[in-house]
Amino acid sequence: KKGNYDHFMQKEIHEQPHSLTTTMRGRLRDNDVVLGGLKDHLKTIRHSRRIIFIGCGTSYNAALAARPFMEELSGIPVTLELASDLLDRQGAMYREDTAVFVSQSGETADTLLALEYALENGALCVGITNTVGSTLARKTHCGVHINAGCEIGVASTKAYTSQIVVMVMMALAIGADKISTQSKREAIINALPDLPNKVSEVLKLDNEMKDLAESLIEAQSLFVFGRGYNYATALEGALKVKEVALMHSEGMLAGEMKHGPLALVDETLPIIVIATHDACFSKQQSVIQQLHARNGRLIVMCSKGDASSVCPSGSCRVIEVPQVADCLQPVINIVPLQLNWR
Ligand code: UD1
Ligand code: F6R
Repeated sequence: KKGNYDHFMQKEIHEQPHSLTTTMRGRLRDNDVVLGGLKDHLKTIRHSRRIIFIGCGTSYNAALAARPFMEELSGIPVTLELASDLLDRQGAMYREDTAVFVSQSGETADTLLALEYALENGALCVGITNTVGSTLARKTHCGVHINAGCEIGVASTKAYTSQIVVMVMMALAIGADKISTQSKREAIINALPDLPNKVSEVLKLDNEMKDLAESLIEAQSLFVFGRGYNYATALEGALKVKEVALMHSEGMLAGEMKHGPLALVDETLPIIVIATHDACFSKQQSVIQQLHARNGRLIVMCSKGDASSVCPSGSCRVIEVPQVADCLQPVINIVPLQLNWR
């Protein structure tokens, strides 16, 4: 039932503090992460030559958000595959690989075909799904249910944030015996329980985002630039705009800006730059300067208190979000971009 909300999607966006709580329930204990579905397979995963994430659409974007911290915490090379592209290429897949299939429904045709392919090639197949009893859950060797609650809205929202949190927990579980990342691991484990509160905080931007969406009604197109932990936020934000506002939108890696897209920048093109505080912050500051020099119509997402350092001239629109541990920041940053494009 959608209750007081106009659409299921809107209800599911606002439900995220709760869905994230259920995703983590029973899985964080005394400075440790316990994923019942993976514990007997962690040894095999740790010995695999690479981890390949496979999915479509928003589920692929969640895997893209996971890649940086999965590599960092596991020390294993991570690659990504769009399910259809893996099948089109009949891409390389080996017995020493761990193939992780990400799917909200657990029934997406291309993802299931890619699973068949990975099983035939002898990879360890792990599922990350919201749907107990789905084909994906049944046919994978092991996996994790994201427990976000049924997702009815056609545009995926709460599943995306819960998928990322499950992949954070998975990275923590795989990397549990790595000495070099212990302090980072502890910081993330300590930050996770408060993440739902931070999501409640960012949901208060509802009216501000409505106002922003209204100001863009006449625009032909919208660019979203991100990098590092928030490259995925750019792709997923642009996907939400396409699906919900039915407006052309492109998510791009900020590092690629000068290799083509800059040619399109002028005062009519709105551009969202994600520049929350992390290791890539100063690079994003210089991207903002370059866009500014081209008179770009800038909307900057930054950490609370950073408005004047991302936009010294005061001429851009600023969306301030709460800051969390770097690898959890994509969970916060996507929320404003889910809101109010309808
Ligand atoms: C499980 C129970 C949960 C219970 C908890 C108590 C289920 C579905 N979950 O949760 O109700 O509260 O124990 O300890 O009964 N799996 C796959 N592929 C997938 C997803 C999951 O093979 O894509 C497998 C897992 O390897 C595992 C089982 O399904 O064997 C359940 O996974 P999950 O619900 O994530 O496990 P728990 O969190 O331990
Ligand atoms: C976007 C969206 C789709 C799905 C994609 C995969 O909002 O909903 O892009 O993410 O069709 O679906 P699942 O995750 O069910 O495999």
